[in-house]
Amino acid sequence: MVQIAPSLLSADFACLGKEVHRISQAGADLIHLDIMDGHFVPNLTFGPMVVSAIRPYSSLPFDVHLMLDKPSGFIEAFAVAGADFITVHLESDEDPAVLISQIKKHGKKAGLSVRPQTNINRLIPYLPDIDLVLVMSVEPGFGGQAFQCQALDKVVALKALIGTKKIKISIDGGVNPQTAPACVLAGADILVSGSYIFKHRSYARAIAGLKERQ
Ligand code: DX5
Ligand code: ZN
Repeated sequence: MVQIAPSLLSADFACLGKEVHRISQAGADLIHLDIMDGHFVPNLTFGPMVVSAIRPYSSLPFDVHLMLDKPSGFIEAFAVAGADFITVHLESDEDPAVLISQIKKHGKKAGLSVRPQTNINRLIPYLPDIDLVLVMSVEPGFGGQAFQCQALDKVVALKALIGTKKIKISIDGGVNPQTAPACVLAGADILVSGSYIFKHRSYARAIAGLKERQ
């Protein structure tokens, strides 16, 4: 069964703790947290202090997506704040191998993410050491963008590259009931969805709707 990771980017930031609690009660499998530095992407969100503040509101794994030019200086802080998965971008300014070992050193699951234009063959050297690949189906930076279909081919190709290794494939951006079935068919294990879920009147119905249509 596919897992659903609601992205807090589209939650009500005026009451994040309550939102985290509500979404956890509504059947989410993980909580996806988008961390943006204003450099790697043209937007800013929140840092480890906020992650630490909302940690008590859910027992679900925190899936932290670092959209940062230089993630190395923040990995420890997010680990201490309560991240379970820490995902860095292959396109950041730093060596992915070093970042992965830093994440592992803190006992966290390590993920690598790729922008829509990045060739997934660049992930090959790192596959033996990671737990998750986050395939971006929109340009990172903002919620509410349209799903880019070429992400589906990437998921299919990635599945073949991964073979029997225990690596989860997550897809992030523009996921809604129209696009979710194709993501699952392509081989995605986790669907990250922000605006669709948080704009829905019932979070539980939104999450169930994404799972149902498989
Ligand atoms: C974009 C973020 C996504 C975003 C997805 O940079 O990585 O997690 O919140 O939002 P929707 O589901 O609205 O495309
Ligand atoms: Zn994300």
